[in-house]
Formats: sequence, C-alpha cells, structure tokens
Amino acid sequence: MTIDRSAARTDLDVADRWWRDGVVYQVYPRSFADSNGDGVGDLAGLIEHLDHLAGGPDSLGVDAIWLSPIYPSPMLDGGYDVSDYTTVDSVFGTLADFDRLVEACHRRGSRVILDLVMNHTSSQHPWFVQSRQSASGPFADFYLWRDPAGWSADGPPEPPNNWVSWFGGSAWEWEPVRGQFYLHTFLPEQPDVNWRSPALRQAMWSMVRGWLEHGVDGFRLDVFNAFLKAAELPSNPEIAPAAALPWYRQEHRYDKDQPDLHELLAEFRAIVDGRPGTATVGELFTSAIEAAVGYWAPRHLIFDWVLLDATWTAASFRTAIATREAAWGDRWPTVALSNHDHPRHVSRYLDSLGEHDEGTADAVAKAAATIELTLRGTPFLYYGEEIGALDITVPRELARDRAALRMPEWWNRDGCRAPMAWSAAVNAGFTSGEPWLPLPPGARTRNVEREAASEGSVLAHYRRLLGLRRGSPALRSGDLALVDVGDPDVLAYLRRAGDETALVVVRFDHRTGEIELPPAAAPWRVALSSHDRASPSVGSRLTLRPFEAVVLAHTMHG
Ligand code: GLC
Repeated sequence: MTIDRSAARTDLDVADRWWRDGVVYQVYPRSFADSNGDGVGDLAGLIEHLDHLAGGPDSLGVDAIWLSPIYPSPMLDGGYDVSDYTTVDSVFGTLADFDRLVEACHRRGSRVILDLVMNHTSSQHPWFVQSRQSASGPFADFYLWRDPAGWSADGPPEPPNNWVSWFGGSAWEWEPVRGQFYLHTFLPEQPDVNWRSPALRQAMWSMVRGWLEHGVDGFRLDVFNAFLKAAELPSNPEIAPAAALPWYRQEHRYDKDQPDLHELLAEFRAIVDGRPGTATVGELFTSAIEAAVGYWAPRHLIFDWVLLDATWTAASFRTAIATREAAWGDRWPTVALSNHDHPRHVSRYLDSLGEHDEGTADAVAKAAATIELTLRGTPFLYYGEEIGALDITVPRELARDRAALRMPEWWNRDGCRAPMAWSAAVNAGFTSGEPWLPLPPGARTRNVEREAASEGSVLAHYRRLLGLRRGSPALRSGDLALVDVGDPDVLAYLRRAGDETALVVVRFDHRTGEIELPPAAAPWRVALSSHDRASPSVGSRLTLRPFEAVVLAHTMHG
C-alpha cells in the first residue's frame, strides 16, 4: 500500500516557482553517505546529512535534491539500468527509508526529484525477461524487436539497420530464444522499450503516478529525446567517418528527436502537472541547444550542454552565454557545470591551466561557482562541488563504469563519482567500511567539516553566494546582458530585475589588473567577492586579482 504524502507539501507551495527560482543539488546516492558500513552510500546516510543541504542554520539552502537512480539494478550502468521501477535497491535501503527522506526534505522546505530512466530497462527487468522468451504474450511488444535484415554467407544474422550504440558497436543484439534482434541505445544489458506499445505506455504512467503518490516533487528524465524512434526504423545517414566516437559518424535522423515525441511528452507532463508544485527536467541526449529549447515548457526544464562544454577562458564562457541567451530567449534555461557523466568542472579547468595546486583549485572552484549561481537559469549543483571536490583516477581495467570497459574512446565516469568527503575521520567520514570507490584527492583537508570552519573556504563561498542569490531578485530571475569591461580575460555581465542591478565580474587568468565598471545611476558596491576585500566601496574602476570573482550591486535608490 502506498501512502499519499503530498499533503505534507502544501506549505511548500508558497509559489509554484521553485523550479525557476530555486537551486537543485544532485546526489549520486552510492557516493554521498554510507550509514551501514557496506562502503556504498544509502538513503539513511543521506537523511543523516540533510543539515548540510537544507533546513539547518548552516545549510546550503538548496530548494530540491535530485537523486540519481535508487531503484533495484544490476548496476552495470551506475543504476541507469533499472530492473524494478517501483521500489528501492536494498543497497540504498527500503521504500520506508525513501518515504522518510521525502518527509524529512519537505520538513526542511526542500523537495525531492527522482531520476526516471524510461528509454530502457535493465535486461533483468521482468518485462524483458518475459519479452525475450517469445514473440507472443503480454510483454512481447514492450521492447523494439526486429527480424534480421538477412543472413550473412557464413550464417550469423544481420542487424535490421545501421544504428549504433552510444557506448559503441551495433545498437542491435541477437536473442536466439526469440529469434530476433532487440535494440539497445546504451549497453546490450539496457534494452530500449517500445513507447509505441499502448501497454508499455500505461505501465510507465502508472509507475510515474506511484512515485507522485509517494510525495516526490519532480523528475529528471533520462535521455528523454530518444524515447521514440521512427516507426519503420530506417538506417541513419552516414556522415563524418573520421569522428572519434562511432555515434557521431551518423546523423541521428531516425533514432531520436522524432516529431511525435511532443505528444508523448504532453501525456507525461499532464500527469505531472496534475500535482501542483511539481516540475521536471529533461536530459537532452546528444542534441543541440535548439532542440532543448523546442522541448521546453513552463515547469519542464531541459538541460542544454553549452556551458558544460565551455573551457576555462573568458572568451569561451562569453560565447557560451551569448549562445544560450540567444537560443533560450524568454524561456528559462538550466545551469550545470558538472554531473555524474563528465569529469568534474574544477578538474577539467585545472587540467587546461596545467596547474593542480590547492590554491588554484580553490580559486577556480570559487570563480566557477560565482558564474554558476549568478547566470540566468536554474542551477544544478553536483554533490561535492561545494567543497571543490576533484576527480579521482581509476585505471580503466578497474573501472566500475561498464561503458569505459566496453569502448576505448569512452571516458571512465568513475572519476567524478568518488565518495563525498565529510570530515578528516577514517574514510573521510563517508563510511566505516571499505569505500566502493577511492576517496577524492586531498579529502583529509578538502572536506565539509574542515571547510565549514574556515571563512576562506570554497564551502563558505558557496554558502555566501547561495544566500546572496536567495535575497536578490536580479540574480534569481533578472535578465542578463554581457558587458565589456576592457579586459579580454574578464567575463562580465549584468543581471537586472526591477530597480535592482547586479554586475558579475570574473577573472580567468593569473594577472592582477584593473577593469572599467559600466556606468551606473548609483555607485557600485561589492556584494560579494571570492577574495578578501577591505571595503565594499568602489569607484569607476576595480582591480581584480588572479581568478577573482566579484558580484557588485546597486539599486536606483542607492
Ligand atoms: C544518461 C545518464 C547516464 C547513462 C545514460 C543511459 O545519459 O546520465 O549516466 O549512462 O543515460 O541511461
């Protein structure tokens, strides 16, 4: 029996705008906090650490927590291979723990976003176990089964078309029992479901309703734009034969972004919108920003990857911001610099600078955070970035990420999934057992407890920034204009709402140098800086030190 916990949410529905004004924090549950000593993070561990996130005096004050998948899974793709959509993997706890988590978050004024992986299931999902047995039966059409295109001279069947898997190789796997191929856009152990089957559709929607009844406030939709394939599954045009990843050697005309996806999304959104205060964010799978904008709707955010792809130069960020502003117009974007699929942003930026000392790491982490929390859009923080966490190096042969083992061109995503460092205790306070992945570099000093005690830490900077953002309509929801402050290594932009204007300036290089502040009706004052500043007053020029990020403000009334 499920208990409807949505009632506990009424006091949170102050305005149905948290998806626009709020900040979301992504938890990778295996790596956040382990309560039972098995070396793997769990829901009870997360509940114990909620003070860090929301509702306590020193919390970051995030508005929602997005959990990467917590469902039962063989974990060949870090939980994105789901074998039961309706409950929690025992490694993470129980459904009762999940209900406790939702209640605890709601009490703290925060929300819970679940990851929905609806493009594919695990091959161990009972639907697939039955579907692969026979071409008749209730689950026969739950997946994309096709006869071979033919048989090659020496016997093996030929795949139905030329589609490739994102993780390399053909997207088709032969199933001898059923005597047909099935489609897998990801691992062979992740068969794609058939959204053109009415029964599959109803099964998915009833699962979605079930989680809403558990009180969740929203969903992150994994690779949603691949849900529908062209009905006849024609081969894709071959392009760019020299592209490094096989995926990019084809134009993906038929295996994603199909016109009827809009109707499918509308069905899903109607279910979600039936619950006031809920929202979603869609993960755009290898499509351009224009596609992201096209799928957007109020309360239904879509990630684009333009900022995540930017490199650590002012010019690269300026171009990315200009591209996004032009593409999104008056729609509302997201802002993310890191997630569980990419090297962490501070590690990427340090690699490009060729410097890995603590001081540069801290300075770059603070500068990047300043951008992330002051751009136009809903920020999505990735656990650990608030302490400046860095990637770990896991040799490919030891990779937990199956995709890295399968494809030499693929990066090893274990790197950005290291345990959270809470304190200088054994295993950084993450577990009393053996952590499932190595701890991040410098965890003895780069941890929550230590950084909480220091005014100059990355964590202290995140807390100040989040506080400033909460109190500033211009930073939360204002418009954005890039400005030129006379130094190519400084990124600068204005955010404006009503009579409040904020000016953000960020130096990307090692120099100390002056910039010209744009003229303003009232004097600029420093609202926040990544470096110590003696006084908030400034004139018409400002000296920025290496990697310094400053938010300046004024109101028309002084
Ligand atoms: C998404 C997830 C990624 C996963 C893939 C397949 O891109 O973010 O981690 O491997 O979908 O489910």
